[in-house]
Amino acid sequence: MEKQATRKVCVTGGAGYLGSWLVKKLLDKGYTVHATLRNLEDKTKVGLLKSLPGADSKLVLFQADIYNPDEFKHAIQGCEFVFHMATPQQTPGSTQTSQEMIEAVVSGVRSIAESCIQSATVKRLIYTATSLAASPITKDGKLDFKSNINELCWTPVDITLTHGLDYIMTYTISKTLAEKEALSYNDKPNCKLEVVSLPLGLVGGETLLSYVPLSVQVMLSQLIGNSETFKALQFQQQLLGSILMVHIDDVCDAHIFCIEKPSMRGRFFCAAANSTITEIATYFRLNYPQYQITEEFMGEEMEAISCDRSKLVKMGFEYKYDMKNILDDGVKCGSRLLGADHVFMINQ
Ligand SMILES: NC(=O)c1ccc[n+]([C@@H]2O[C@H](COP(=O)([O-])OP(=O)(O)OC[C@H]3O[C@@H](n4cnc5c(N)ncnc54)[C@H](OP(=O)(O)O)[C@@H]3O)[C@@H](O)[C@H]2O)c1
Repeated sequence: MEKQATRKVCVTGGAGYLGSWLVKKLLDKGYTVHATLRNLEDKTKVGLLKSLPGADSKLVLFQADIYNPDEFKHAIQGCEFVFHMATPQQTPGSTQTSQEMIEAVVSGVRSIAESCIQSATVKRLIYTATSLAASPITKDGKLDFKSNINELCWTPVDITLTHGLDYIMTYTISKTLAEKEALSYNDKPNCKLEVVSLPLGLVGGETLLSYVPLSVQVMLSQLIGNSETFKALQFQQQLLGSILMVHIDDVCDAHIFCIEKPSMRGRFFCAAANSTITEIATYFRLNYPQYQITEEFMGEEMEAISCDRSKLVKMGFEYKYDMKNILDDGVKCGSRLLGADHVFMINQ
């Protein structure tokens, strides 16, 4: 077997929540990592990545922005595998319209796939997708679901939901179209590039960042009593008929699993647990009774739509973390970074 120490991989968005955890794991395994971020002058992000064990000799940082997607080719050149994790989010101060963001995300994927092909070194592109792109909904807004969520489900991009906040809808549409664009390279004649997409459940657990990542905040929204982040949880339940969850460590192991297979392409669900808002709230009430969850955060009683995640498991991937671990580590993360009093201040 080839020594991993000789293998070079690229991680776009290497300073993000998932990106930084993946870069750390890759360095620990001896890979040489080309990581991209938008601003090499950002001392906090660069400092975090440079402080990782092995970074001094095996980590090279590149500046690249999805809105100038050609910039990624320098980071991709010479690599054997590319993990494409970077994705813009619409924030209150964003100057781009939803349509501009969606187009940028899709053309970013296209440009990165083309750079992989042109490099002549990249064997496989791993696209970090979201389960929000795989809604089992059958009728627009009527909550009529197929019996389970699987790799054949695709979210209709013209869907309207009562919990359809603009920024999450834009994100969902951009990720759905971008994942389809990435996977389309598997069907191009004479294209040797293998593309794998991993639609992830909501990611929870610990973090290397100095703040609580957005997805962990969403997962803790009922404990924190934050009605804004809670809307993202309601959106997911309305779109998928359940809350799919996965631990950050399993997410990164799954990404690495996808490059350590001799050959692999296609779409593979990555979610360890599926639950409902009510079940999560009940878990928190039982295990963290010192914090009160008010009725508005309890959700409507319903049965979660199940998720068929067997495709990745049949390839040999094993999840190490269940719902309990995902939520408990999320609570630890929140308490560590904000202080237990602060995290749960609103409910006390
Ligand atoms: N967390 C989840 O629950 C979850 C679930 C499903 C899928 N995902 C996917 O996982 C990936 C990482 O998400 P995350 O949770 O780690 O989010 P995150 O911490 O916000 O990271 C997002 C990353 O995207 C980069 N980025 C943002 N705008 C960019 C732009 N215009 N050009 C280039 N890079 C840009 C950021 O780079 P800078 O460091 O330069 O700011 C950052 O590294 C995303 O593709 C997301 O869709 C996440």
